[in-house]
Amino acid sequence: MPEIKGTLTYEKITAPRGHQLLRGFSCGNDKFGKGITGNVANIYRGQAVVTVAAMTHEGKVAGVCAWQPRPLPPSTTALYRDTYIHTVGLSKEYRSCWLEDGTRISTALLTETLRQIRADESTNTMPGVWALVHPFNKKGKALFASHGFALRAPIPNHDLIFFRPPGLEP
Ligand SMILES: CC(C)(COP(=O)(O)OP(=O)(O)OC[C@H]1O[C@@H](n2cnc3c(N)ncnc32)[C@H](O)[C@@H]1OP(=O)(O)O)[C@@H](O)C(=O)NCCC(=O)NCCS
Repeated sequence: MPEIKGTLTYEKITAPRGHQLLRGFSCGNDKFGKGITGNVANIYRGQAVVTVAAMTHEGKVAGVCAWQPRPLPPSTTALYRDTYIHTVGLSKEYRSCWLEDGTRISTALLTETLRQIRADESTNTMPGVWALVHPFNKKGKALFASHGFALRAPIPNHDLIFFRPPGLEP
C-alpha cells in the first residue's frame, strides 16, 4: 500500500465501551495483528479500563493505541505513575502506508499518543511509559525503539518490556 494524502486526525476516547470508531476494528490476519484485533474487541466490549487514541484518515480508522496507568514491573505499587501501552496497531487497510513526507503512520500514532499522555498528566511532566512486546515481533520492537523506549532485562517466559524513562518529551 501506498503513500497516503491528506491529514490524519485523532480522537481521544475515554469511554471506549461500545464506541463506534472501535466497532469491527481489524489489524490484519498475521499473528500479531490478530492479537491486537482481539484487544480492541475486548476494549469495545468494555473489558479493559483504558484511554484510546483512534487515528482516522478520510473518516476511516487507520490505527488505534490504548493506554492505562500501571506501574513498571516488577513494581506493583502505584508509587510511580508509569503508563502502560496496552494496545497499538494499524488497521489492516492502512498497514504499509506512509505519509507524503515519508513518516510512518505508526510513528504518527505513537507520537500523538505520547503527546496525549503528557497532556493528561496532572504533574505536568512526562511519565515513564512501557510496553510488552513479543520477542519475535520485529515491527513492534522497531516502533518502540524508534520512540525512545529501551529494552529492559528479560524476564524468563515473559514478553519483552520496553521502557521509556520519565521526563523524555514526546
Ligand atoms: C506494530 C505496527 C504498529 C508497526 O507499524 P509499521 O511497521 O510502521 O507499519 P506496517 O506494519 O504497516 O509496515 C510498514 C511497512 O510500510 C512500508 N513503509 C513505511 N513507511 C515507508 C516509507 N516512508 N517509504 C517506503 N515504505 C514505507 C514498508 O514496507 C514497511 O515495512 P518495513 O518495516 O519492512 O520496511 C504494525 O506493524 C502493526 O499494526 N502490527 C500488528 C500489531 C502489532 O504487532 N502491534 C504491536 C504490539 S507490541
